[in-house]
Amino acid sequence: MFPGLSVLLVTILSLRSQFTSGSDPDPVQDFCIPDTKYGSIRTPQFKILPCKNSSEATTDDFVFSGIKAEGTFTDTGLSSISINPAVFPGLNTLGMSFVRSDLKPGGFNAPHFHPRATEITYVVQGSVYSGFVDSTNRVFARVIEKGEVMIFPRGLVHFQMNVGKSMATIFGSFNSQNPGMQKIPTAVFGSGIRDELLEKAFGLSHKQISVMRRRFVPKT
Ligand SMILES: *[C@@H]1O[C@H](CO)[C@@H](O)[C@H](O)[C@H]1NC(C)=O
Repeated sequence: MFPGLSVLLVTILSLRSQFTSGSDPDPVQDFCIPDTKYGSIRTPQFKILPCKNSSEATTDDFVFSGIKAEGTFTDTGLSSISINPAVFPGLNTLGMSFVRSDLKPGGFNAPHFHPRATEITYVVQGSVYSGFVDSTNRVFARVIEKGEVMIFPRGLVHFQMNVGKSMATIFGSFNSQNPGMQKIPTAVFGSGIRDELLEKAFGLSHKQISVMRRRFVPKT
């Protein structure tokens, strides 16, 4: 093949996967355990590393034991452990990732969305008020119980709250190895958008905006 043609093809293929593909690119081999001698997957963005020689892969590369128990709880009563190729290398290039979330009674997961993935959530235990808002601002929400599943379509704002008296546990699965996540309160009040605009947009006073800022600036 002419070198020019292969450069063009590679360009077209990479544009396709960046801008028009509905999901992560299809794998071109069985699996790809990232070879960490080329760096870290999160540095600081999500980096695609060359694969380890597949003869070096072991069963343990495809088993993950880190969600047997809940993680650390935030002050909103949520604990969430995200499992992606950075912590579970066997997932790399397979176009999926997952999360274990636990909610204390009354705990909630604030409205947020994943720009690159649809999410399926399965309630392992508890009663969870769960829903999403579509692009016409229609809300689809109800309480789902142990054993029930709900989907949150890609890119749509969704939320969850434990409305039961005991702990809730949810398993979420994404059709991207890097779904991305934006929390609405943090994106709006914690990102550094000028006060003047936020005051106009939300009809809030300077003082009220400062209160929201203190609450939603991400803690580091
Ligand atoms: C992968 O490992 C096998 C077995 O050690 C070896 O024969 C092969 O050449 C290696 N492949 C590459 C691309 O290094």
